[in-house]
Amino acid sequence: MGYSTDLEPSFMLGTGTWSGSITAGRPHTHGMTRADLIDVNRRVIQAAAEAIRSMAPDAVVIVVTNPLDEMTVEMLRATGFAREQVLGMAGTLDSSRFRNTLALAAGVSSADVEAITLGSHGDEMAPIVSRARIKGRQLDVFLDTDQIDACVKDAVTGGGQVVALRKTGSATIAPAPASIELIDHIRGARSGPVPVSMMLEGEFEISGVVLGVPGHLGSGGLIAVEEISLSASELGALQVAANAIRQRLED
Ligand code: 2OP
Repeated sequence: MGYSTDLEPSFMLGTGTWSGSITAGRPHTHGMTRADLIDVNRRVIQAAAEAIRSMAPDAVVIVVTNPLDEMTVEMLRATGFAREQVLGMAGTLDSSRFRNTLALAAGVSSADVEAITLGSHGDEMAPIVSRARIKGRQLDVFLDTDQIDACVKDAVTGGGQVVALRKTGSATIAPAPASIELIDHIRGARSGPVPVSMMLEGEFEISGVVLGVPGHLGSGGLIAVEEISLSASELGALQVAANAIRQRLED
């Protein structure tokens, strides 16, 4: 089952009940930030939400439309669904970019790298260095501080780099497996926490805003947030992201 607008095709993937990804919206293109899309894509999300609410009230909805965190808030508001049912896909995509850049810098396979990004899908992304591992060991065994900083920057700007190279459109290839990764968690083919954007209700001392954090997923969507331990600067980065997303929604 699919939902699309004349702006960009979208797709949905089914599971036992119904779950799917919303990619409908004007794409992030070169020369604009993801935040520039708030007004136009809010209307697209509202139209999609109306259809989902009436046709699939038990759906688990994965928002892919940019600006990701803000549009996930909009989907929650417009459907009136429980927070468990409305998730945003960014962390799996951004984490794959972080693992890839670390692997290239260290000269290893990305399969040897464990690393996640949290926070926003944008400038306030928080690649989590404190928990990242290459071949099971801390990053500084393989990389110096400048190399680690460069990898963090590369992860944060990864989406923008793709958009700049494509010139006329947004990334379309990597977001597909990153969305399927979430679907796999929902359908029980993968387990363990996965970075996903969700409405926080006090986790990491943040409330009332959607942010990327680790969550356990199942057939009803979110099962539980996993409050992993983070460094003080990483916790601070989550607060910065939360404030920035709140601010953009109010502007
Ligand atoms: C991405 O990160 C452009 O947001 C899109 O691939």
